[in-house]
Amino acid sequence: MRIVRDVAAVRAAVRDGGRVGLVPTMGAFHEGHLSLIRAARASCDLVVVWLFVNPTQFNEASDLVNYPRDEDRDAALAAECGADILFAPPVEEVYPDGFATTVTVGGIADVLEGAHRPGHFAGVATVVAKMLNMVGPDVAFFGAKDAQQVAAVRRMVADLDLPVAVEVLPIVREPDGLAMSSRNVRLDADDRRRALALSRGLAAARDAAAAGQADASALAGIVADELAKEDLAAEYVAVLDPDTFTPVTTVDRPALIALAARVGPVRLIDNLEVHP
Ligand code: PAJ
Repeated sequence: MRIVRDVAAVRAAVRDGGRVGLVPTMGAFHEGHLSLIRAARASCDLVVVWLFVNPTQFNEASDLVNYPRDEDRDAALAAECGADILFAPPVEEVYPDGFATTVTVGGIADVLEGAHRPGHFAGVATVVAKMLNMVGPDVAFFGAKDAQQVAAVRRMVADLDLPVAVEVLPIVREPDGLAMSSRNVRLDADDRRRALALSRGLAAARDAAAAGQADASALAGIVADELAKEDLAAEYVAVLDPDTFTPVTTVDRPALIALAARVGPVRLIDNLEVHP
């Protein structure tokens, strides 16, 4: 595996590469990231892993400063999973002096995470548009953990006619149910235990929906009750159409329950598909 820092080098490396797969990441790899790299390896001739802690998508300065970084470890793991190129540009390569263009996605990106993290999705959409143009992959791999990011990226790809296929892989969880996240390392032992209320609440809502509870606010209430047992309050619990991210009032077809909650110093998100 080669580590590449600039656009010219990555373009030269992917030329004549056959089917090129891109795995966008901000590093601090866990099994969620690695599942994407392995999926890319299984279906592409050339696998490029993008590693860049994108400052423009952080709406809290402390979150950016505390974001875990370990390029040597990430490079070793990416290589183990079969990546061909680790593209890890410095900030100046991505945002040179005078940078002034932003991609904003309307609708989908305005609610939930978009409402609670002003500017977040503009940062995501802009950097994803840039990396797609820099690398020119045939397919880009994303995780369902960031369901709203997936919906926003799909919207942008369709709206801007970007010539890339978007593939989405399921959420990878710890054995006890906690969705893997680079931010989990910042949970102390007690918060790590309390954080289980997120996945537990979603699972309880899923079970209730399967048992016939179709009322979206009742399902959201089940999640909120689980959180309350650990003294946690959600920033939002929403029952949504998975494609448009518009609210659903009755679960008469598959829906997504998405939530965000602060656990100690860390803001966590999770989601689960529920079926009537
Ligand atoms: P990051 O948070 O590093 O996530 C990179 C990719 O890994 C995303 O597609 C995310 O959904 C996926 N991922 C994270 N946790 C996962 C889990 N537990 N199971 C499955 N997939 C998981 O998302 C970003 O970076 C950035 O916003 C980025 C797209 C790179 C733009 O900067």
